[in-house]
Amino acid sequence: MNVKERFVDLIRNRDASLPTLPVVIGNLLAKADSESATPEELARFLSNDQSLAARVLRIANSPYYGLLRKIDSIPRAVTVIGFREVVSIALGSGVIGLLTPREKGGLIDPVELWRHSIAVGFASKEAGKITGKPLEDSVMLAGLLHDVGKILFLIYFMADYAEVLVKHQAEGIPIHLVEAELLGIDHAEIAFLLMKQWNFPDSICMPVRHHHAIDQCPAEHRTVALLVSAADWACHAAGMGMSANTAPGRNDANLRAIGLTEQGLEKLIDASRSSAAEVEAFLEAVS
Ligand SMILES: [Fe+2]
Ligand SMILES: [Fe+2]
Repeated sequence: MNVKERFVDLIRNRDASLPTLPVVIGNLLAKADSESATPEELARFLSNDQSLAARVLRIANSPYYGLLRKIDSIPRAVTVIGFREVVSIALGSGVIGLLTPREKGGLIDPVELWRHSIAVGFASKEAGKITGKPLEDSVMLAGLLHDVGKILFLIYFMADYAEVLVKHQAEGIPIHLVEAELLGIDHAEIAFLLMKQWNFPDSICMPVRHHHAIDQCPAEHRTVALLVSAADWACHAAGMGMSANTAPGRNDANLRAIGLTEQGLEKLIDASRSSAAEVEAFLEAVS
């Protein structure tokens, strides 16, 4: 059985080793698509999970939001930074908390991978601003979770993934192609399988699934996939974290498709580089 078949089996059998999404996050996802939840309701959900609530507050008070006054409660956070933003923070930090391997395998440092992911989350949003795209709520989360599949490989299929990394580094073939060849599945697809199992909405799952194969992305999710892919490239160029991908290729057609000019790209790389302190504070707040 290859890695794909083994992972599909884990999901089909609801294997106990698979991380289960905390109930509170499931409730949030159900509410994320509606405007109907009040700050009080949200606060009530989050109060069922004190450590998650505390993490959300730490992030809301991090330099990324640059607020002058301290936010000391969830309802206050909802009022100041917005309902959907709070939900995004809770979901993102919940998943990071769930999928950080305790031991370092020596293959890829998971912390470096999360550092890259958080930077891409911020940069995806920035790419949307630079190109004047409507700011979709899913942009930041799709960016934050785009490489979560690599963490899954590290946690569940470490030995197999070691072979992928060796071949990728020796031959310089893009990592997702080596994964597909040796494992039968790439990091984008394995992330999609888990996120589907967790009932994540397509607005997040689809851009993650297609961030290396944009032409296969359904049209309604393509813009977000393109923003994430541009942000991914910019963060590599800016040296933000490590994703185990040695030299991701630049795809000019993809950049053009969202109207990202040379000047815009420079701006994006600069913004990614100067987000370092915010990325660090975010990483600290979630760990
Ligand atoms: Fe990727
Ligand atoms: Fe990446």
